[in-house]
Amino acid sequence: AIERTLSIIKPDAVAKNVIGQIYTRFENAGLKIVAARMTQLSREQAEGFYAAHKERGFFNDLVTFMVSGPVMIQALEGENAVLAHRDLMGATDPKKAEKGTIRADFADSIDANAVHGSDAVEAAKVEIAYFFPELA
Ligand code: CMP
Repeated sequence: AIERTLSIIKPDAVAKNVIGQIYTRFENAGLKIVAARMTQLSREQAEGFYAAHKERGFFNDLVTFMVSGPVMIQALEGENAVLAHRDLMGATDPKKAEKGTIRADFADSIDANAVHGSDAVEAAKVEIAYFFPELA
């Protein structure tokens, strides 16, 4: 089915100047960019976005990292988009990510892991509505 998913190119990857290389991977995989915005998140925005992780030990480091520089946020659309995008990203921990994935190629650590992607269709709806309410 045609789905949408939320993608964030994180501060580490924006700083590495690889937005275009990552967009090319989306496009080559048949994922269409249907909305996009570059922004520097406030702490409040980052905490709200990652609210599901609030009780995790890494929450504070995660939020601090996500507000450390500009991010590029996009909604992607295509066949099986949620899983297709997860496959492009690779495992959360770049040390475990398969060769040729975005995280294997561009990420440095589990915190500075280059990209975020929705993990399921329901989560994608919530995450897209959070940043692109006009798409809902
Ligand atoms: P992301 O897909 O953006 O969702 C939550 C983020 O928390 C994750 O990517 C990682 O960058 C970060 N994180 C840090 N430590 C962990 C951990 N132990 N498990 C999962 N995510 C972690």
